[in-house]
Amino acid sequence: MKVGKVLLTAQEIDAKLDEMGAAITTDYQGKSPLLVGILKGAFMVMADLARRIDLPVEFDFMAVSSYGAATETSGVVRLLKDLDQQIEGRHVIIVEDIIDSGLTLNYLMRSLRARRPASLALAALLVKEGLQRVDIEVNYPGFRIPPDFVVGFGLDYEGHYRNLPYVAVLEEHLHSG
Ligand code: IMP
Ligand code: MG
Repeated sequence: MKVGKVLLTAQEIDAKLDEMGAAITTDYQGKSPLLVGILKGAFMVMADLARRIDLPVEFDFMAVSSYGAATETSGVVRLLKDLDQQIEGRHVIIVEDIIDSGLTLNYLMRSLRARRPASLALAALLVKEGLQRVDIEVNYPGFRIPPDFVVGFGLDYEGHYRNLPYVAVLEEHLHSG
């Protein structure tokens, strides 16, 4: 499996994260939001986005089961790690690497909403076009990308490529059409 075309360069991602961080900083003035990163994929977005938010943020993480070895979503979401803290009354911002079918986020947001946060927002570096099976509002979207399987900047294929500083399409999954 080879990495194919670079879809987003490190510079493009940098500029986008600047925008996202600035927007969050503006929107949450006077507040102390809790950033909730979805492991493992979101770890890099979380680290880079958080450094651009000029607010007293706190961090927590959740882990859910992903595709495993496959490159298409199963719709089955399993909670592997829950939050360490209570979120009642908190301003929560979920930080995701990518939204594909939206099934994972739909499940997570329902679960978090039930805990009565003061507000719940979603930031995602990548949103795959045309594939969303669940309608999800992304408050802080990064890039809209075609429905190819991508790796890098936290995203993996079978555990690999997460450390790439850019986002690339996997060659065997290039969209033909
Ligand atoms: P969803 O439930 O279909 O939205 O899938 C969300 C999760 O699947 C993401 O958090 C990723 O971990 C994984 N995923 C979706 N698309 C890709 C991709 O193109 N490359 C790598 N992982 C992906
Ligand atoms: Mg994954």
